[in-house]
Amino acid sequence: MNTLFSKLSLALLAIVVLTGSAFFVVERYSTQNYYEEITQRLNASIAMYVTGERQLIEDGVVNSDALSLLAQQAMIINPTVEIYLLDKQGKILGHALPPESIQTDYVSLNPLLELIAGDAQMPLRGTDPRNSEREKVFSAHPVMYQDQLQGYLYAVLGGKKYDELADSIRGSYVQQVSLGALLAIVVAAFFVGLLVFRLMTRRLSRLTSDVRRFTDADFDLEVIAALDNLETTPTVTDDEISQLRQAFGRMANKIREQFKNLKETDRLRRELVTNVSHDLRTPLASMHGYVDTLLIKNDSLSAEERLHYLQITRKHTRRLEQLIGDLFDLSRLESHSIHPQLEHFSLAELLQDVTQEFELEAQEKKISFKMQGGQSESMVYADIGLIQRVLENLIRNALKYTPAEGEISVGLNPQADCVGVVVADTGCGIAEVDLERVFDRYYYIDQGEDNNSDSTGLGLAIVSKILDLHGSRITVSSVVNEGTRFEFDLPTQEAA
Ligand SMILES: Nc1ncnc2c1ncn2[C@@H]1O[C@H](COP(=O)(O)OP(=O)(O)OP(=O)(O)O)[C@@H](O)[C@H]1O
Ligand SMILES: [Mg+2]
Repeated sequence: MNTLFSKLSLALLAIVVLTGSAFFVVERYSTQNYYEEITQRLNASIAMYVTGERQLIEDGVVNSDALSLLAQQAMIINPTVEIYLLDKQGKILGHALPPESIQTDYVSLNPLLELIAGDAQMPLRGTDPRNSEREKVFSAHPVMYQDQLQGYLYAVLGGKKYDELADSIRGSYVQQVSLGALLAIVVAAFFVGLLVFRLMTRRLSRLTSDVRRFTDADFDLEVIAALDNLETTPTVTDDEISQLRQAFGRMANKIREQFKNLKETDRLRRELVTNVSHDLRTPLASMHGYVDTLLIKNDSLSAEERLHYLQITRKHTRRLEQLIGDLFDLSRLESHSIHPQLEHFSLAELLQDVTQEFELEAQEKKISFKMQGGQSESMVYADIGLIQRVLENLIRNALKYTPAEGEISVGLNPQADCVGVVVADTGCGIAEVDLERVFDRYYYIDQGEDNNSDSTGLGLAIVSKILDLHGSRITVSSVVNEGTRFEFDLPTQEAA
């Protein structure tokens, strides 16, 4: 009983019953008035004809014979007419009806004079001497004798005969049919209204159950995903319920997205903690071992040995520092808390600086650097610090995985709205099975060599995330024992 539909149905029932009854009463009243007005207009001249036939009062004396004769004649023409002769004050002087049926001696003169004056609004009702509770339409005319007003002839229209007849046909076939039709219309209107309300409230109750499911789901992503159909594209025919449904759909989607992000961030945080503790343990344990050796065997160690142990320890601290920095950066990149500071800068100049950093190391390994093309047209729109990091990681990898006498080439390839960057080497290459996974975090290939010991597999993951932030994607192609080639684009203009 608490539903909107039941409340609307009750309201509709009340409205339909009220309007039906009001219509019934108004119809009754207006039919009565209509009939009486027609009767009065039709019979308006009856009193005039009757007074014109005979002299009914002479010097105040009533001609009763003439009166009863005329009354009978009038009743033959219209059986509901009752004729009275009144004096100037409205007192009944004569009639042709059974004397015991008359309840009053006087007839009110006001309506009578109004009718005679001719400007009355019909139906105009006056006294009915045979029924003092009811007023009746009438016809009236002054009775004159030698230009002197003697009284009035008063004809009640629709007298007792009419009342008897009306009572006898109450509940007749015609009346029953019209009452039945009215009832049928009222009932039909009620059911049509119910149907319309049902159709309208059904959408509302569907939405209510969706909202309830959503709140009961306790942010269960699968249940929330099932509510996907809530969000539809708005159309001009949408009413408030559709708009509400769409607004709820958008809200649910937003909550779902934020909840997903929250879950993902939480997962990354847990993973980070696990990985960090695992990754830090190895260099820490190694450092611990060397420091212990230094402490315990301090006296028995030669200066050379001591220096060697200290150098190893320092190498591990550097490694730890780099690892912590990489982990921190990657987690910030993954949680989208790094916002690139975009600016125009020359990629060729940046590349020059980065290669200089590695010049010495390259010379030591007898590896040559080659720069190719696009020196002048290399302005890009990007975050200079982050792109420097990308280039450093790619070139460091190239140096790490290219044997002596090899070659590293870096090329710029300016195009209409971007500059293509290629970092290629003649190193060991990457097997096809590993190619698509090298950008995953912690993915590194066990080369079984010494230089593998400081691999964590974070470098390319960071590169890929940074380029993601710039709306770019890095690709790799490689042939084992021939070389590897990394390529990506950087935009020259601010994205529209
Ligand atoms: N230029 C390259 N030539 C051959 N193999 C490469 C090259 N660059 C990357 N790889 C392979 O891809 C793997 C992932 O590289 P990534 O830079 O992510 O990690 P990493 O270099 O091993 O460690 P770090 O986190 O110190 O960079 C490497 O372990 C290596 O096997
Ligand atoms: Mg690397």
